[in-house]
Amino acid sequence: MNTDRKTALVTGAARGIGQEIARILAREGYSLFLADKLPEANETVQACRALGATAAFVPCDITDAQQRENLIQTVSAGTGRLDILVNNAGINVRERRDLLEVEEGDYDRVLDTNLRSPFFLTQKIASWMIQQKEAFPERNPCIINIASLTSYAASIHMAPYCLSKTGVSMMTQLFAQRLAPHGIAVYEIRPGIIQTDMTTAAREKYDRFIAEGGLPIPRWGTPADVAQAVLGLVRGFLPYSTGEVINVDGGFHMRKL
Ligand code: NAI
Repeated sequence: MNTDRKTALVTGAARGIGQEIARILAREGYSLFLADKLPEANETVQACRALGATAAFVPCDITDAQQRENLIQTVSAGTGRLDILVNNAGINVRERRDLLEVEEGDYDRVLDTNLRSPFFLTQKIASWMIQQKEAFPERNPCIINIASLTSYAASIHMAPYCLSKTGVSMMTQLFAQRLAPHGIAVYEIRPGIIQTDMTTAAREKYDRFIAEGGLPIPRWGTPADVAQAVLGLVRGFLPYSTGEVINVDGGFHMRKL
């Protein structure tokens, strides 16, 4: 791997939003480390290489502390630098069910994957980014968290997911404040209803919701919509902002009468 090239780490890059983020960063000239528990991430690696980028798949279940450690070691040994961390890997509840029937096991699984693991991954990477920024002040490292409209919109059939994403939003604020004096920006993207494997189970429900006027921009979002927002952030279009939330949701977040 070429150590002069800017490097990005994207978690959950085997498919969906993470795959598209990887591809857009590949086009932007980043060297990529793609972490996922699914071997299909190799296909994303091939797609990134076809776009001229250097890319490597790092098999990693982010809920495993040792695998997170190995991931950081792999990036460090590979290019010796990390400019962008995208915390994208995430899961939904096993089955949408009423708030009064949430099982502890599912709660723990979702909170562990969506909040606890990215928190501790970010903690380690933040310390490393601080060292890099001190050694190379001209670099502009940044961290992007993929939260969700459920960070603020209560959906009583996927309570653990909502709680995890609310936590991710606070995590953005916490790391943004802690890292700002070191010149490291932390941003959050809140996707709305995006067509991926994650939303397959609720496709009819969301089709109906959109058809009935639920979104100001009346269509499903795409992974490319989210990736475009990542691109704007990594290009440094918000140089005097941190902790900023970018809604990629067809305007869902606006209140209306
Ligand atoms: P997806 O299910 O298509 O992809 C998620 C990826 O994360 C998969 O490749 C999966 O293998 C990986 N992953 C899950 N658990 C992992 C673990 N423990 N270790 C490593 N990798 C793991 O989902 P999608 O839609 O692409 O979601 C990406 C992110 O966007 C998630 O954080 C999700 O919560 C968020 N999001 C998605 C929305 C949507 O409508 N699809 C809306 C709002 C947020």
